[in-house]
Amino acid sequence: MRLILMGPPGSGKGTQAKRICERFRVPHLSTGDILRAEVKAMTPLGSAVAATMEAGGLVSDGTVSAIVASRIAGTDARNGFVLDGFPRTVSQALALDHALGEGGLTAVIELKASEEALYDRICRRAVESARAGEPQRADDNADTLKRRLRAYRAETLPVTAFYKQRSPFFQVDGLLAPGEVTDQILQLLRGCDGVGTVKKY
Ligand code: AP5
Ligand code: MG
Repeated sequence: MRLILMGPPGSGKGTQAKRICERFRVPHLSTGDILRAEVKAMTPLGSAVAATMEAGGLVSDGTVSAIVASRIAGTDARNGFVLDGFPRTVSQALALDHALGEGGLTAVIELKASEEALYDRICRRAVESARAGEPQRADDNADTLKRRLRAYRAETLPVTAFYKQRSPFFQVDGLLAPGEVTDQILQLLRGCDGVGTVKKY
């Protein structure tokens, strides 16, 4: 299964990607998580991208496309993957097309949510992390979310138009409870070719 989960910051991409990956036993490829791990480990890549991420801007297309191309070529992605947070620009979508070769995508699913709900979720996550004594995401605050949303509207909305033309493309209401969102995604995937076997409980 080769699935892309799209949606604005806070729409639930990471939450849903984890659940879908567990069901289908495929790797969760989150460019945000990969980049945050680089920042935390203070690698040269992490040092190069930290300020951009903290400001809510986009890391360069070449950097993220190279990361994803190498991950999807890995043996753990033999049976597929769920991409979360990539592609975020049309240039990244074209690079992904190239990396995928002939196989194509199983589906692209966009999670929809109102901006009001996104502010609530991101600000709540910041408060809850602080309360639990956990490290807070450097970009989880209202000012940076505003910039993340601006980047989403300018650079990523055109990617949804791109996929509507060329892949099975679906929208799911990201404001539903997490379990209901998962159920809807699973239901949509049942109608797609190349989904593979769902783990039985
Ligand atoms: P990234 O890590 O991808 O962040 P994001 O897209 O801005 O969004 P989030 O991860 O905050 O939200 P999410 O949609 O995953 O929702 P989540 O499940 O966490 O990117 C971060 C930065 O990295 C970018 O700004 C950029 O700088 C860089 N970057 C990454 N990829 C890049 C790329 N391809 N190109 C260039 N730069 C790139 O949920 C959010 C909160 O809501 C959680 O607290 C969760 O518990 C809660 N929640 C989730 N679902 C529900 C629900 N259904 N009901 C109620 N609460 C819910
Ligand atoms: Mg995420």
